[in-house]
Amino acid sequence: MANSKYEYVKSFEVEDEIFSPNLLVVRIHGRDFQRFSHDHGFEKPNDERALNLMNTCAVAVLEEYPDIVFSYGYSDEYSFVFKNTSKFYQRRASKILSLIVSFFTSVYVTKWKEFFPLKEFRYPPSFHSRVISCASIEVLQQYLAWRQNDCHVNNQYETCLWMLIKHGKSENEAQEILKGTQKQEKNELLFQQFGVNYKKLPEMFRQGSCVFKTEMEDIVKYNENGAPVKRLRRKARIVHSENIAGKSFWNAHSCLLKELGRFDEDVGKIKPDYVRSFVFENKLIPSTWIVIRIDGCHFHRFSEVHEFDKPNDEQALNLMNSCAVAVLEEFEEITFAYGVSDEYSFVLKNASMFYQRQASEIVSVIVSFFTSMYVVKWKEFFPQKKLKYPPYFDGRAVCYPSSDIIRDYLAWRQVDCHINNQYNTCFWMLVKSGKSKSEAQGCLKGTQAREKNELLIQKFGIDYSKLPLMFRQGSSIFRAKMEKSAASENKSSVEKVRNKVLVSHCNIIEPSFWIAHPSILNEEPPL
Ligand code: GTP
Ligand code: MG
Repeated sequence: MANSKYEYVKSFEVEDEIFSPNLLVVRIHGRDFQRFSHDHGFEKPNDERALNLMNTCAVAVLEEYPDIVFSYGYSDEYSFVFKNTSKFYQRRASKILSLIVSFFTSVYVTKWKEFFPLKEFRYPPSFHSRVISCASIEVLQQYLAWRQNDCHVNNQYETCLWMLIKHGKSENEAQEILKGTQKQEKNELLFQQFGVNYKKLPEMFRQGSCVFKTEMEDIVKYNENGAPVKRLRRKARIVHSENIAGKSFWNAHSCLLKELGRFDEDVGKIKPDYVRSFVFENKLIPSTWIVIRIDGCHFHRFSEVHEFDKPNDEQALNLMNSCAVAVLEEFEEITFAYGVSDEYSFVLKNASMFYQRQASEIVSVIVSFFTSMYVVKWKEFFPQKKLKYPPYFDGRAVCYPSSDIIRDYLAWRQVDCHINNQYNTCFWMLVKSGKSKSEAQGCLKGTQAREKNELLIQKFGIDYSKLPLMFRQGSSIFRAKMEKSAASENKSSVEKVRNKVLVSHCNIIEPSFWIAHPSILNEEPPL
């Protein structure tokens, strides 16, 4: 297909490969889950159903991605470890962290009802994610020890805190009592004041959960004599263990040894320098415009399985738009969004300090929130269609140095929309009229825009320029400054100016759009 003069904007995209032999770990954790768990009535300090839901999502992740061989989670977090030879998506960090968090979110929302049959979402959950790169198996071991130690420390603290609160203390009083206490003291407090033996509490609460694959014999069929035919199959299973970073646990599992390597020593003290590397996050260049572009993963198949209209399914596009509106309503920092097909670009202003400009935080939160909305809103747009499997998206962040270049970026996407839509409209009309897919491709090879328009008019009586604007120009989302009229009893006053999020299908290549809406891209002083 033709290149447009805007394609140069692609050169701002940067590589983010995690090179071998670094081990790849993706950690996800709930966004604002303190509030989410409170608003959804989770039991404190541990809600078994919520933890089981997290574990189920982790099992789904391991089953979906064969390269992930081990995972460990507690509370609202999970870490996924890739095998050392993984070439998953060319080891591109942003791609990997975004699609894992999106898939996890999608499964979480899809399976919610199985675990909380009587609870509706008050709002959709979302997760953060990041990639941790471990330079050696020893570093991975330290990482796992660090996460499990956090689980131990947090769980013991939270258990004490909530016992004190349940027995009449205020949250502040309980915090005051626990200030500076050591492990031993907390255990004693639990035992002496409440008769609770900490060691007897459920393993899942104290130790967290591991999911990894073990080889199991499965009966695949029975032969003519009725004897079972067995085959070794790898199956994800949930395990609890006191010390996941210990030699005795790790080295006992052949899959872990084979795909990741052996632990030579037990972990002593966790090295602070290693922890610094685990919490380090890259920041996007200051004073640049940020675009987060998300794109449906394998939507070719998803749209087939869910029988979307070809080439454009109005409801599918409306669903995408509705999710993007929700993103702009949730994140005030996003000034503009443009969407077409299974993709959406979200623009943040150059002065934005959203998540301190940490790339993985911004990408993961937007992609996860969008996915959550997509699954939650599915029924609203497709009341007759069941969601057959969890849809998910990937995302990336790209920085652009000026508002002119951001406009070129958006123009690039809109030109792409136009080129693809015109091609697809012709292609599917030819196929619907009886041509095979390869014949249709042959007919269209090398044709220019004008020839395609003529083909549509002459063969099918379709005036391309009369097709819905949403199909031809994609969807733009932004805030319009509106003055809301006052309530009837107070007609003379004007309510405060409100920003309403609008969807429009306008031409964003023309400068006139940007002149008419100066607040969208007004540059702010460099930092
Ligand atoms: P990856 O993004 O690389 O995972 O592949 P993908 O299969 O998602 O394809 P890509 O993102 O390149 O293109 C989006 C695909 O989604 C299109 O090729 C279509 O197959 C499908 N799609 C998107 N919107 C619609 C729609 O409205 N109707 C139909 N029928 N298909 C759509
Ligand atoms: Mg796609």
